[in-house]
Amino acid sequence: MRRIERHETAQVRIEFEGQALPAQLGDTVAAALLAANHWCFRSTPVSGAARGPFCMMGVCFDCLVEIDGVANRQACMTEVRDGMRVKRQQGASDIGPDRFADGDQESAP
Ligand code: FES
Repeated sequence: MRRIERHETAQVRIEFEGQALPAQLGDTVAAALLAANHWCFRSTPVSGAARGPFCMMGVCFDCLVEIDGVANRQACMTEVRDGMRVKRQQGASDIGPDRFADGDQESAP
């Protein structure tokens, strides 16, 4: 995938699977990974098949990744920030038994 040239934009660095990648401020995580030729963002829970972004607008959920230790983040809806750590999501992610223990129902997936 080729990046469309645009006005000067601040550069940031993110990490994907332990590898440092350059990105531009304002990129979504999905755009930054695709620009770096990473196409597999997650594997499916049943077959383990590879999945990558399809809609790029928050509908298909094929872009789920782990960001800074938090699973089930939509890469196409999340803007990069310097130092962000991104990992592929392997299968179904556990939301954890204590996720809503403090009554935080608003952040439910
Ligand atoms: S690419 Fe479809 S929800 Fe992110």
